[in-house]
Amino acid sequence: MHNVEAVRWSPEGLGVRIIDQRLLPADYCERDLWDVDTVCEAIRSLAVRGAPAIGICGAMGLVASASAFRSEPIDLFRRQVRELGLRIRGARPTAVNLPWAIDRMLDRLDATSGNAQAIIDALHDEASAMLAEDRAMCRSIAEQGVSLIADGARVLTHCNAGALATTGMGTALAPIYLAVERGKKVEVLVGETRPLLQGSRLTAWELTRADIPVMVLTDSMVASLMRAGGIDLCLVGADRIAANGDVANKIGTYGIAVHARHHGLPFYVAAPASTLDARSASGDVIEIEQRSRDEVVRPFGAVVAPTEVGVWNPAFDVTPADLVTAIITDRGVFRGPFDFSGAERLPDWRG
Ligand code: MRU
Repeated sequence: MHNVEAVRWSPEGLGVRIIDQRLLPADYCERDLWDVDTVCEAIRSLAVRGAPAIGICGAMGLVASASAFRSEPIDLFRRQVRELGLRIRGARPTAVNLPWAIDRMLDRLDATSGNAQAIIDALHDEASAMLAEDRAMCRSIAEQGVSLIADGARVLTHCNAGALATTGMGTALAPIYLAVERGKKVEVLVGETRPLLQGSRLTAWELTRADIPVMVLTDSMVASLMRAGGIDLCLVGADRIAANGDVANKIGTYGIAVHARHHGLPFYVAAPASTLDARSASGDVIEIEQRSRDEVVRPFGAVVAPTEVGVWNPAFDVTPADLVTAIITDRGVFRGPFDFSGAERLPDWRG
């Protein structure tokens, strides 16, 4: 079982404690975030990352940031909380979990009267509820997806959609953790995930800690390993799933889905309900984050391309729904044709 807590309240109070994922696997280092600048910087720089984790970190970070303004007059305090929320909401554009979480916090702000302390208490309750729900959603995804993983399965995943990307046992890795817990043998294969190497640095790290066999591939090996019969199924996470089932996820996911279709392999996506975006009709309207050229030219400080060369560095791509075999959510397993236009009306996992 995983033994990682990617995001939690700091023991001293209202700060947010994260694992600084930029330093893994060489160094394990926890950091506390206390204000809007450090929260936004941690999200932007991928110190904390993964769609569910940045949503929860953003919500908790809003509580931490708002606390500094508690002695302001109440109208000013309310305006400041809203502005802080909007700054955090815009820290990264693609994962819908971040606006989902901040909008829920701002709704709670609107629904709360009283002084600044009453508002901070209400926001703290809301963020804590989201933290608990996210953990439960991960567990529920595990239960929904576990039967798709046969004993002996060799599962290809991409990037990191595990405990490090959520506040629980992950999304794509959750059914794998549960399958292993139930005595199945599972081997995980993961592409490095260029340019920031979330596959080799993070997924390989957390699965190794959990004693689950994992093999790292260079990203370009996927097609030939499929052809050689070394992969049974693909299971990835998502940053945003449009109403028609198009899936935005880490760059490289689309290529894996194309290869999977060619080789007749199932391609599964696992995500909590907070990643379903009824307001995006299709993947065409999902904003794809463009990141700095330095990540490609000078990754981790080593110059690997002429520094003046042109670079295209989108952080995500969109896999069209027709390449997706099934979407495993905490509310059930959905098969195409998908229709998440009423996502907010899906049965509630809380019962
Ligand atoms: O840029 P990152 O590392 O935040 O990208 C993360 C991913 O693409 C994950 O697959 C996705 O957020 C799902 S995490 C449960």
